[in-house]
Amino acid sequence: MAVAITNLTDHTGAEVRGVDFTAPMDGSTRAQLNRAFVDRGVLVIRDQKLSPHQLLSAVRLFGDVFPQHNTRFALPDCPEIHFISNQDKFPDGRPYIPGEGWHTDHSNDVRPPKATVLHAVALPGNGGDTQFANMAAAYDALPETLQRRLRDLSAIHVYQSSHSARQLMALPSAAKERVPNAVLHPIIRTHPETGRRSIYINPIRIEGIVGLDHKEALPLLEELLAHATAPRFQYRHEWRPGDMVIWDNRSLLHKANGDYDMNELRYLYRVMLKGSVPM
Ligand SMILES: [Fe+2]
Repeated sequence: MAVAITNLTDHTGAEVRGVDFTAPMDGSTRAQLNRAFVDRGVLVIRDQKLSPHQLLSAVRLFGDVFPQHNTRFALPDCPEIHFISNQDKFPDGRPYIPGEGWHTDHSNDVRPPKATVLHAVALPGNGGDTQFANMAAAYDALPETLQRRLRDLSAIHVYQSSHSARQLMALPSAAKERVPNAVLHPIIRTHPETGRRSIYINPIRIEGIVGLDHKEALPLLEELLAHATAPRFQYRHEWRPGDMVIWDNRSLLHKANGDYDMNELRYLYRVMLKGSVPM
């Protein structure tokens, strides 16, 4: 069966059918998938049923595996893969909904992951969509004077921003040693493969903007986020059994939705791929 790639919106996302990641893949199919990933930002690869080790081999067709920060979510027999589960609780018993609120993954790393991959293992009957917003399209739509001003700014990214409404699960102490305290990244980054500029912000991780006080920085970040996550820049993914979704963290924000029956299990495998220093 030939690979079929179909666009999901006019700017973001493509659906991929006719690939089997449990079988060897030829070079031209691999190149076609990598090109579609870079061009479309999100690939929705249907009808997969991959074990953790099969998933690792599949994602290696797109790059090298990035060691994720919070090792408490690692699968014991395949630690490069973490799990995302709605059955997780904070130490005080409150449910923990991973990924709620717009963000980009692990931006507090010197070299944040270029991509994140999720593979659905168990899904609720309704809801639990993942939303994506295209930061390159959002950048293009900004007035030129604001584009120019933003190109001179850098943000300070930390594990957990003190301004974030969303609380993250604390890092185990062993992981704390290898996760940087704070890193600086440009607010506008250039995609190393497409050369397109995009907005690089993260409300759960940005502590401030270099050279601006909070009174100036926080409203600017809020205004940018509201602009960049407008529905016209979004692709909203409704999960189906067998979906494997890979997205480009260099040019997208994403968010999970905890809008479903929490008595139903939602469980996905997560892997990330190594990226470069944002520039
Ligand atoms: Fe995420």
